Amino acid sequence: MRHLLEIDDLSPAELAEVLDLAEKPAPTGLLSHQGVGLIFEKPSLRTRNSCEAAIVALGGHPVAIFDNEIGLDKRESVEDITKVLAGYYSLLGARVFEHGKVERMAAVSKVPVINLLSDDAHPCQALADLLTIRQHFGSLQGHTLAWIGDYTNVARSLTLGAVMSGLSVRVACPPGYGPSEADLDHSATLSQHGATVTICRRPEEAVHGASAVSTDSYVSMGKEAEEAIRRQVFEGYQITEPLMAAAVSDAVFLHCLPAHRGDEVSATVIDGPRSLVFSQAHNRMHAFRGLVVWLLSDGHR
Ligand code: CP
Ligand code: NVA
Repeated sequence: MRHLLEIDDLSPAELAEVLDLAEKPAPTGLLSHQGVGLIFEKPSLRTRNSCEAAIVALGGHPVAIFDNEIGLDKRESVEDITKVLAGYYSLLGARVFEHGKVERMAAVSKVPVINLLSDDAHPCQALADLLTIRQHFGSLQGHTLAWIGDYTNVARSLTLGAVMSGLSVRVACPPGYGPSEADLDHSATLSQHGATVTICRRPEEAVHGASAVSTDSYVSMGKEAEEAIRRQVFEGYQITEPLMAAAVSDAVFLHCLPAHRGDEVSATVIDGPRSLVFSQAHNRMHAFRGLVVWLLSDGHR
């Protein structure tokens, strides 16, 4: 049985298979008369709703479960909660603070566990982002993605998935907010088709030759107490029209959302013709459906 806690729980070939499945119609009745439990320790718009819609399309019944009811490691241990829910549901998803919580779930679960975002990783988002770029340009291999701003959970999963797909990444982050040496070593070991991760000093340098430009909120969930300092740190890292103009001429803008117009991106970029953010958000549903079909297919259960 396979889990998806980070995107490299898939091999590069398996990642491409999931993206292919995301472009196919839902196989009827795959989850017929079955439930899927989705645990949330943090808020969500896209993840909860895209997962629920995908589960419904597969004939299943999603059940959203909130931490204020179940009390992960407060009312009961993560392990006991997982063992109970795995007896009711065919799949479990969880959005958590510490990444270790999804690892602990996977260690005791008799059904697949999917990470719906942890402090360290957001693999379902990365699948949707790669699907969006692949659909727009027809391929991932040989293109370049620029990541500007905070090297968040989204950045980490997307970079790994990118290099696994032959898509190079150019990163510009303020000092102390970029990838760690371990992140860079890990990306290098996963790289296919010569894809590279390049650290750049300035956003203008990072977008050079980029087909896609992506960023994330200055203040991720759980970092709210750092908002004032982060506003200073990320000054100069906004995605603006002049910055987009320094990328390739048909470059697109991506953002996992929620977005903060005037902070990490200007309204003219996110609401402009280069922005794919709503296709990207809708692809969360298609990517999740592809992932579920893959996880429940013979040989992966
Ligand atoms: N992109 C994303 O995961 O959005 P939500 O936090 O609304 O689920
Ligand atoms: N990095 C953001 C992503 C939100 C989808 C966060 O963790 O809040």
